[in-house]
Amino acid sequence: MNRFHHWYCRSGHWRLKLQSEILPWAVNGLQLAAMAPALEIGPGPGLTTEWLCEHGAGPACLEIDPGLALDLRRRLGAAGVRVYIGDATQMPFDEGRFSIVLAFTMLHHIPSRALQDRMFREAYRVLQPGGILAGVDSSDSWLLRLFHIGDRMLPLVPSELPARLEAANFANVQIDIRGERFRFLAYRPPARVH
Ligand SMILES: C[S@@+](CC[C@H](N)C(=O)[O-])C[C@H]1O[C@@H](n2cnc3c(N)ncnc32)[C@H](O)[C@@H]1O
Repeated sequence: MNRFHHWYCRSGHWRLKLQSEILPWAVNGLQLAAMAPALEIGPGPGLTTEWLCEHGAGPACLEIDPGLALDLRRRLGAAGVRVYIGDATQMPFDEGRFSIVLAFTMLHHIPSRALQDRMFREAYRVLQPGGILAGVDSSDSWLLRLFHIGDRMLPLVPSELPARLEAANFANVQIDIRGERFRFLAYRPPARVH
């Protein structure tokens, strides 16, 4: 992430926006406290992680930036948050380990369509049957591009997401658009009983 992002993603302004608007909308209808074990990918400085802890869903975290990951481990380790340094397109977890995978404002930081699709397949793999992938991201805009000058980013097109998530074997995909943001929800289908 560029320096602006490093500053903004830990700012009071972003915290307020997350708490009052983005996170309640992104996980609306999900019983987070009943969905352990949870995995958050791309927590960054962890304002999202703190909110998840306050709402009963202390997650494991997977963060690609070692500095951010170690910082978060130092800050929230005592609260029981396990922070892993690693890449969400190659997750260091066994199949079926989590009930829910959460991705807040991080998809567009995965720099190619192929890698984004690989992340969807990885999220599917680490979810239990019946598990959920949920999150929120920003659509393409001049403001988003301005925020990412000197940074790697590839905004997703919300209308393309159902087909892309279904290609990763997810079902019941739901996409909702609100202004410049969209939220997504997709299920790993339950195991078949023979
Ligand atoms: C814009 S920040 C969002 C942070 C936090 N989720 C929030 O909403 O405040 C995106 C984060 O995703 C992380 N990230 C990007 N690509 C990743 C990947 N492939 N695997 C894990 N983390 C990744 C970045 O290092 C960064 O910390």
